[in-house]
Amino acid sequence: MSGTGLSDARPCQPGPGPRGVPRIVDLIGNTPMVELSCVRGRVPAGVRILGKVEGFNPGGSVKARAAWNMVRRGLASGQLRPGKIILDSTSGNTGIALAMLGAALGYPVSLVMPENVSLERKRVLAAYGANIVYSSPFEGSDGAILLCRELLAQDPDRYFKPDQYNNEANAEAHYLTTGPEIWRQTGGKVTHLVATIGTSGTVMGTGRFLKESNPSVQIVAAEPEDAFHGIEGLKHMASSIVPGIWHREQVDRVIGVETEASYDMVYQIAAGDGLLLGQSSGAAVLAAIEIAQELKEGCIAAILPDFGDRYLSTNLWLGWRDRHQLASSN
Ligand SMILES: Cc1ncc(COP(=O)(O)O)c(C=O)c1O
Repeated sequence: MSGTGLSDARPCQPGPGPRGVPRIVDLIGNTPMVELSCVRGRVPAGVRILGKVEGFNPGGSVKARAAWNMVRRGLASGQLRPGKIILDSTSGNTGIALAMLGAALGYPVSLVMPENVSLERKRVLAAYGANIVYSSPFEGSDGAILLCRELLAQDPDRYFKPDQYNNEANAEAHYLTTGPEIWRQTGGKVTHLVATIGTSGTVMGTGRFLKESNPSVQIVAAEPEDAFHGIEGLKHMASSIVPGIWHREQVDRVIGVETEASYDMVYQIAAGDGLLLGQSSGAAVLAAIEIAQELKEGCIAAILPDFGDRYLSTNLWLGWRDRHQLASSN
């Protein structure tokens, strides 16, 4: 088992497992890429859209990579040490990843998040033993960021705050793993990267690696079309607190995507490819289709951040239910 590329420079191991048996952190990364067939007919024959299925990570999302690299760096620098609590603001997936790592490594985790995140997320976090602090459901991820800052200011020595929006180790995770994996999995043929933006760590780190490998690879960020959207995990940059790790000049293009269209794409991929994804994956594939329609040939890598079963109590499911006219109890 080769494990993640992060293990190359792993300074702090929680303790060796039995010989040859991987630990949970060794299973982060090396996710599969699949060709999406449901887009055929909508894109030119010479263009392939390959999805990187990040739901296969421990904790169920792309954020396992960033969370592990930030924790790993924190342990290496001594900022995270026994007695400290891992604290962060998160719209969900990073929190789940941190809670998973806290449980695996033996550190308590406290998370600030908007009260209206999905029920599944709240329950998963509770199962990992994390403490949840709710921020206003009307202030989105920015409200969680501000409340988290307040908690930290009240007792700074008590906490280790990975600070995913400003921690370069977030983007570095993708520079070290996601980028090299895509390069390898496409045999160096990738022409475009499409990644949605929350903290922007995925697009920044993966994009930087791919640009260094081939400067003509186009880096595309997909964001919600407007401030009021229903794509959990994503930020509309113009109306948000801009992450410190976001460098617009490192991205060739930003594409705005509508919530309803993203949901619709999720339903199409589920029915057409047998892959039930989260709504941000729908947004990424929509942006990839928009790019594909401008090309004759190409190989577009789209990051699919998580699976859809995490959203079955949200509007994503309700849209599908209404479309199929299922009884409201379904
Ligand atoms: C479901 C989902 N999609 C996309 C993203 C965006 O990833 P990044 O924070 O690397 O920009 C996130 C981030 O939390 C997410 O939870």
